[in-house]
Amino acid sequence: MNAESGKVKLMNGVVWEYDELPHMLITGGTGGGKTYFIYALIASLGIEGRVHIADPKKADLADLGNFKAFKGLVVSDKKEIFEQMQEAVELMDKRFLYMKKQKIYTIGKNYRYYGMKPEFFIVDEWAAFISVLDKYGRDENACTEENLYSSISPLVLKARQAGVFFILATQKAGTDVIRSAIRDNLMCKVSLGRLSEQGYIMTFGDEQKNKSFINKYGVKGRGYIDVGAGVPQEFYSPLVEKGFDFVEHFSNMPSMPYTDVSDVEMTEEDKELLNDVYGDQFIEEEQEKISMLQGERREQIRKDKDGKAEKLLSDVSYSDQLKNYYRELS
Ligand SMILES: Nc1ncnc2c1ncn2[C@@H]1O[C@H](COP(=O)(O)OP(=O)(O)OP(=O)(O)O)[C@@H](O)[C@H]1O
Ligand SMILES: [Mg+2]
Repeated sequence: MNAESGKVKLMNGVVWEYDELPHMLITGGTGGGKTYFIYALIASLGIEGRVHIADPKKADLADLGNFKAFKGLVVSDKKEIFEQMQEAVELMDKRFLYMKKQKIYTIGKNYRYYGMKPEFFIVDEWAAFISVLDKYGRDENACTEENLYSSISPLVLKARQAGVFFILATQKAGTDVIRSAIRDNLMCKVSLGRLSEQGYIMTFGDEQKNKSFINKYGVKGRGYIDVGAGVPQEFYSPLVEKGFDFVEHFSNMPSMPYTDVSDVEMTEEDKELLNDVYGDQFIEEEQEKISMLQGERREQIRKDKDGKAEKLLSDVSYSDQLKNYYRELS
C-alpha cells in the first residue's frame, strides 16, 4: 500500500483519491480487521503527511504514542480526544488563512498548490468515544456531544481544500453513534468482517439496499469498499504477514512530514474573512464539486466493468466460435 499526491492505493485496482473524495468511514464487527487496516493506513499516509491518532479504548493504537514519530500525536482520554478534534478544526482554519496569505493565492486551489502536506485525524472505536462524552456542559469547551458535533460538522464539509482529513472506525455506524451530518460526508466507506444487513445499509447507504453483501466467515480483513463513487466493491485489506512486527516497523518510522502553521496568528478580522470566504457558499460549491466527481468516478467504474465483460466475451467466444466453425467444416 502506498500513498502519493492525494491518493492512496488500498488494493490492486482500488485507489482512494482522498484529495477529491475526502474522509473515510471504517465499519465491521469485532475482529474484522479495522485496527489492522488502520495500521496499514498509518504506515502509508504517514509518509505523505502527518497522522493524528485517537484510541479511546486504549487498546492497540495507543502504544504508538511511545514511538518517536508519533510523539504528541496519540491520545486516549476523553478530554484529550475532544481537544484533538478541536485542534483539527483550528488547524483547518489556520491552514486556510496560511493559504490566503500566500502571494500565489488563487481561489479554488487546494493545499498542494502551496506545497503543503496533508493532515490525517484517525479515530478508532468512535462509538466508545461518543459513549463517554458528557450529557451536559456549560461552555463550548465542555466535552459534550453537542459541542463535538458543532465543531466537527463544518470540518467534514470544508476541510478538503485545506488538506485535513478524517478517518473514523466503529463497530456500528448507526446514527446513535455517528450523526448523519458526519457519516454522509465521509466519502470513502470500508466494511471489514461481518456486518448485519442493517450494518451494510448504514455503511454504504440506503441506495445499496438490494445489493447482496456476503459475509465470509473467518476471513479477516475481507469486506467491501466504496472509494466515494457510490459503488461498493469487494475488498481485501492489505495482508499483514504472520512474522511482521508492527512495533519494529513503527518504532523505526521517520518523523512524519507536516506544514508548520503555528506562527499563523488569527485576529478577529481574519476570522471574519474566513467566515466570508469559507462560509455557506463555499460549502455549497464543495458539495457540488464532490457530487460531480462522484458521478464521474461512478461512470468510470461502470465503463471499466463493461470493458472487462466485453473483453471476456470476445476473448472466449470469438476463438470458440472459430474453432467450432472449422470443426463443423472438417
Ligand atoms: N489485514 C490483516 N492481515 C493479517 N491479519 C489480520 C488482518 N486484519 C485482521 N487480522 C487478524 O485479525 C485480528 C483482529 O483484527 P483487528 O484487531 O484489526 O479487528 P478489529 O476490527 O479492530 O476488532 P475490534 O472491533 O474488536 O477492535 C488481528 O489480531 C489479526 O490477527
Ligand atoms: Mg480494533
